[in-house]
Amino acid sequence: MVKGTFRFLIALAFALGANPASAQKFAELARTPPMGWNSWNHYGCEIDETLIRRTADALVANGMRDAGYVYVNIDDCWQGERDANGFLQPDARRFPSGIKALADYVHARGLKLGIYSDAGSKTCGGRAGSQGHEFQDALQFARWEVDYLKYDWCNTGTGPAQRNPREAYATMRDAIRAAGRPIVFSICEWGENKPWEWAGEIGHLWRTTGDIVNCWNCELGHGSWTSWGILNILDKQAGLRKYAGPGGWNDPDMMEVGNLPSLAENRSHFAMWTMLAAPLIAGTDIVSMKPEIAAILTNPRLVAISQDPLGIQGFAWHRTPELEVWARPLADDKWAIAVLNRSDVQRTHRIDFAGEPLSDDLNQKFAKIGERHYAITDQWTGQPRGTTPQPLDVTVDARDTAVFLLTPEG
Ligand code: GLA
Repeated sequence: MVKGTFRFLIALAFALGANPASAQKFAELARTPPMGWNSWNHYGCEIDETLIRRTADALVANGMRDAGYVYVNIDDCWQGERDANGFLQPDARRFPSGIKALADYVHARGLKLGIYSDAGSKTCGGRAGSQGHEFQDALQFARWEVDYLKYDWCNTGTGPAQRNPREAYATMRDAIRAAGRPIVFSICEWGENKPWEWAGEIGHLWRTTGDIVNCWNCELGHGSWTSWGILNILDKQAGLRKYAGPGGWNDPDMMEVGNLPSLAENRSHFAMWTMLAAPLIAGTDIVSMKPEIAAILTNPRLVAISQDPLGIQGFAWHRTPELEVWARPLADDKWAIAVLNRSDVQRTHRIDFAGEPLSDDLNQKFAKIGERHYAITDQWTGQPRGTTPQPLDVTVDARDTAVFLLTPEG
C-alpha cells in the first residue's frame, strides 16, 4: 500500500517534470539574462512569417546573433483557431508554412525560436489563450521545437474570480517540463502580484511592470492600463535587485532601443538595461535599423556587463534628481559604473573613488580602492580613462549615459 502510494507519487513527479534530470535541464537555461528580439514593440499585431525570416537573416548579417541575440520571439497575434482536437494552429494567412518550418529556418541560422501565449481564455490581442489547454499547448510548442515562451496575463478574470497567478504560471511550467523540451519561460504578469517573490521557482524571467513605451519619461494612459517610459520603468525597479540572479531575472520589459528619438536616449536605455542585468530583447525593426543603433546593441563591452557570470543586478550608488551613478559588481573583482544624465542639459560630475566606499552589502562585494588600483575604461569606446584612486571627471550629454569598467591592476 505504502509502496503503491510511493510509486504513484514518483510517477506523478515524473509526469510533472519534477525529476532531478528534468529540473536540471530547465535550471541550466538563462544562467545569464536572455538576449534576442521580439516582434511586439515595433510591429504589434502586424506580423507574418516573412517578417520573422527577414529578421532572422538580419540578426545574422548585422552581427547581433554573434553578439548573443539568439532568441527570435514571435509575440501576440500569430494564432489562428484550434483544430478539431484542440491543438493551436497558426493564422494560416500570416504563417502559411507553419511554426515548425519557421523553427527549422531560424535553427538553421544558429538562432532559437520564441512564441507567445496567455494564461487566460484569450490573449491581450484577442487570440486563443492557453487556459485549460496548458499541457496540450506546451506539447504543441515542443513539437514545433520552440525554445522560449512568453506567457501573458490578459483575460484571467477579475476580482475574486481571477486566476491565482502563481498557480496559473506553475501549471504552464509543469506543462513545459512534461513536454520535455528545454524552453525558457518568460512570465509576463506585469508585476501586479509581486512575481519577484514567487516566480523564481517557476520561470526564468518575470516582468516587473506594465508595458514599456518609446518615450524617455512619460506615462501613457490607455483606459484600464498605462504604459511607461524608460525612466519610469527604471524607477520601478527599486528594491528588486535581491530577487535576480543566474537562472531568474527581473524583466523591466523588452527594449525600445532604436525606437527612441535621440541616440543619447537609445544609449542610456541600453546602458541601464545592462546595469540592471535585464533580459536584452530588442524590439525594433532589425531589417532597416541604422548602423548606429546596431553599434549600441552589439557593443561588446556593454554586452559583457549584461552577461557577467555573477549575474548581480546593479544599484544606484548616488542619486540626484538630474544625475544618477550606478554600480554593478562583476566577476574577478571588476565593477561597472554608469553615469545617467536624466536631465535635458549636459552635466559634469566628479566620482571620488577614494572618498566614498564602493560596496554592495547585499552581495558582500567591496571594491578595494584603498589597497589596489583599478584601471578605468570607457566602455562605449574602449579608451582608457585613468586609474583609481584618482577621481574621475565625467561629462555626460543631455539624456545620455557614460559607462566605465573598473579592472583591478596587478
Ligand atoms: C501585453 C504584454 C505586451 C505584449 C502584448 C500583446 O500588453 O505586456 O508585452 O505581449 O500584451 O498583446
